[in-house]
Amino acid sequence: MAIKKESFGRNPYGEEVDVFTLTNANGLRVRIMTHGATLVSLEVPDRNGKLKDIVLGFETAAEYGPGTPYFGCAVGRFANRIANGRFSLDGKDYQLALNGDGVHALHGGDRGFDKRIWTAEVLEEEKGVRMSYFSPDGEENYPGNLTVTITYTLTDANELKIDYTATTDQATPINLTNHSYFNLAGHDAGAHGAQTMMINADAFVPTDGTGNPLGGFRSVEGTPMDFRTSVAIEQRINDDYDQLQQGSNPGYDHTYCLNKKKAGELSFAARAEDPDSGRVMEVYTTEPGVQFYAGNFLDGTSKGKDGCHYAWRGGFCLETQHYPDSPNRPQFPNTILHPGETFRSQTVHKFSSN
Ligand code: BGC
Repeated sequence: MAIKKESFGRNPYGEEVDVFTLTNANGLRVRIMTHGATLVSLEVPDRNGKLKDIVLGFETAAEYGPGTPYFGCAVGRFANRIANGRFSLDGKDYQLALNGDGVHALHGGDRGFDKRIWTAEVLEEEKGVRMSYFSPDGEENYPGNLTVTITYTLTDANELKIDYTATTDQATPINLTNHSYFNLAGHDAGAHGAQTMMINADAFVPTDGTGNPLGGFRSVEGTPMDFRTSVAIEQRINDDYDQLQQGSNPGYDHTYCLNKKKAGELSFAARAEDPDSGRVMEVYTTEPGVQFYAGNFLDGTSKGKDGCHYAWRGGFCLETQHYPDSPNRPQFPNTILHPGETFRSQTVHKFSSN
């Protein structure tokens, strides 16, 4: 496998961006840029071997700026919401930017990890690219100097592996994910509703209309949130169910609590399939949750790759992560990283066709 490095122009902050292309023995091709350690494209074959780019994104690095939908990027220091942007740690109160609908902290703040330049290292032997980022103490008001690495590896078994590590010199909240929007029929194929979804979770985190957890968990049993067997995404997304009928852009936008035998094990999280092309994506993760977001905020205004405009619900995200607002919820799995510890997490996307 060859790993190609090219210039990808400048980001919205005027910084130079490189893009790396990984190709495996079966022709799968993924491009990752240093701005936001972002997955720019991911070409995957259908049942006839026809490659299509199945992730939403922009043509140039310059378009990945503030106010865009977090296409393909790494999200941190804390993915998802922290209620009212507030948390306390070791007796100190912290106030973060309220960049999520003006009420909560969202996805690491005004200029989170998705809008930073990462340092890339090609791993010839492992067939991957390691992206590193140093987030100084106080950046976006988070405590502690944090060093993060994200390693993308493309295997000949058609797996894209994403490995995360982080270390800190002060206790800090951490929640890292990748924010790719998938459309298994092709990034420009329009609404994804006929594609099927399966999520290995008996419960989810119910939220209010601003995405803030109500407290506790809710069983999926007997609700349109139940994806324990494959079902078309569109089948129940508009059902008259409280969790699907709230906020400015209703639909699935929830963290599922993944069924695991042991916390931290790499286990099956989700499976999506496009019945037309036959493309299948399975997701495995060590994380306790996955945010299934159906692209409810996409509205046709984002002009993406190949000049297409991304339709409402034209891409879905399966963001493997911890639960929202964990720093304020002692009953949720821990998200505080301490000095001397190494945060580790892995997510694997496996592609095949039917
Ligand atoms: C959130 C959505 C949000 C989207 C883009 C997702 O992770 O759950 O509510 O609109 O990211 O910011």
